[in-house]
Amino acid sequence: MDTEKVPSASAIAHPNIAFIKYWGNRDDTLRIPMNSSLSMNLAALTTTTSVEFRPDLKEDDLVIDGQSASPQALQRVSSFLDLIRSEKHLKAIVISNNNYPMGTGIASSAAAFAALAAAASQAAGLDLDEAALSRLARRGSGSACRSIPTGFVEWQAGSNDEDSYAHSIASPEHWALVDLIAVVSSAHKSVGSSTGHTLAASSPIQHARVADCARRLEICRKTILERDFTAFADIVELDSNLMHAVMMSSSPRLLYWEPATLAIMSEIQTWRAEGLQVCYTIDAGPNVHVLCPQEQADEVETQLQAMDSIQTIYRSSVGEGVRLV
Ligand code: DP6
Repeated sequence: MDTEKVPSASAIAHPNIAFIKYWGNRDDTLRIPMNSSLSMNLAALTTTTSVEFRPDLKEDDLVIDGQSASPQALQRVSSFLDLIRSEKHLKAIVISNNNYPMGTGIASSAAAFAALAAAASQAAGLDLDEAALSRLARRGSGSACRSIPTGFVEWQAGSNDEDSYAHSIASPEHWALVDLIAVVSSAHKSVGSSTGHTLAASSPIQHARVADCARRLEICRKTILERDFTAFADIVELDSNLMHAVMMSSSPRLLYWEPATLAIMSEIQTWRAEGLQVCYTIDAGPNVHVLCPQEQADEVETQLQAMDSIQTIYRSSVGEGVRLV
């Protein structure tokens, strides 16, 4: 490695919202999921991360939004960097900035590890293609592998490190879908996704959820390719409800919804019955991702704004994959 020039690189990535969810791993260490999943990247939200490998550092250093990261976050990033650095002693300074406040309950690990994978591998002198980058990002956070390719993205579960990665099924321009993220609570979730994945198998219905997943994914992919919102809404809500049913029936139980979550779900069903094209999906938290075609987004946003229980609404169109900056 060239010691004259400090090896550094920066990358930008978006989080993604899954329409067909990843919940439960075949292999927790390698993050090989029980089922394939499907998502879109969120253009409006970004994480920009720079990585600098420096011979003078004794330890890795991680700064997120101007603040020194927690020991747990640093440990997760250090372990990830160990997958990349050829010289084990070479430590790195990682600086990451989000354009949305941390702790709003919007999942940020996908964008974080997608940007980190791209920046760190480039700084380490590796020239990884998209599939290799997606595999690498997966090791940091499963859903991060879907933030590598552009637009609408499918993560084929595979069965080992080699064949578990994501690819794009359609560009951002293919379909002008909008995600209105209704933030109802910014409290930190008591049980994070990584722990949640390890509990999934304890639910008696996880097996049924996984067994039917290929069917749902095929329908979902088709509705996206055909831009069929009505059929899309039906399968997306079913998949989200199935994941939460697994969460609510695992040991210990995981109940991520709050009263405001349910109020929004209920309103959405009413609006749809009245003719508005809109549906919901919910991750491991109480906030609701409200999906609609762009033509309906102003009206849906106005309706959401009228609900007292919503603190903030983020509005995003379909985003690109990770890129170096
Ligand atoms: C509910 O990718 O955050 O958002 O691999 O442990 O980092 P780790 O988990 P993570 O899990 C995401 C779970 C989900 C559904 C999804 O995005 O598919």
